[in-house]
Amino acid sequence: MKRNVEIQTFNDSEITVPEGVTHNLFPTPVKLFELAEPGLNTELGAFFTSHPRFSETDQAQMADVTTLMEYAEDVPALARLEQLFLAGLESYCRDIGWQGEFDLDMQMFPNVSPGGHYVPSHNHVSHISAVYYVHTEPSARPLLVSDESISDYWRPDEGALILHDPRFNASLMGGWHQHAKIFPRPGVMIFFPSFLWHEVTPHRAKEPRLSVAANFSLTYRNVPAYERRHRFSC
Ligand SMILES: [Fe+2]
Repeated sequence: MKRNVEIQTFNDSEITVPEGVTHNLFPTPVKLFELAEPGLNTELGAFFTSHPRFSETDQAQMADVTTLMEYAEDVPALARLEQLFLAGLESYCRDIGWQGEFDLDMQMFPNVSPGGHYVPSHNHVSHISAVYYVHTEPSARPLLVSDESISDYWRPDEGALILHDPRFNASLMGGWHQHAKIFPRPGVMIFFPSFLWHEVTPHRAKEPRLSVAANFSLTYRNVPAYERRHRFSC
């Protein structure tokens, strides 16, 4: 019987493909600033170590249900830190191309971490998050490590901020498993998208590690008329 489709024949020459172009779509922008603010760190350090709120047993659990700005009248460094966060946010938004007129909801909350304290893996309910480090244990590691192998992922580094690969279930198939570690120093301010999963490993220093986290939620002011804004409760 005659076949309708003629069988193609291919020669056995070596198979090659053109060079091709890889597009790194959907990257995760993480921005680091190294600020020289010793006076700010001294004042914030004194505030965190002297105010009774930060020695209460539930201070870690209650850290993010208020804003540090309620103490700004007595602690001028907090107002300065707020301005530094806002300057960093402007720079970060410029980098990621998020521009416009916004109403901004901003929260600043403390991280007072005694030796042995850790922060389980989590992300934040906001658009953009940031952390400013007031006091950290000295580390011989680089500020940012982003080229480790998967076996290094499991090494129990002390005092590391681990940033997890945010791609959904990417690690299930092995080769996509990426991570980065920050070994923070005082004065470092880091910005990242709030959806980025992260955790903090314990340290063994006598003094608590001190940092301030910030969450930013941006709402466009110039919403079109067809997007009606409602007050809603449920
Ligand atoms: Fe966090």
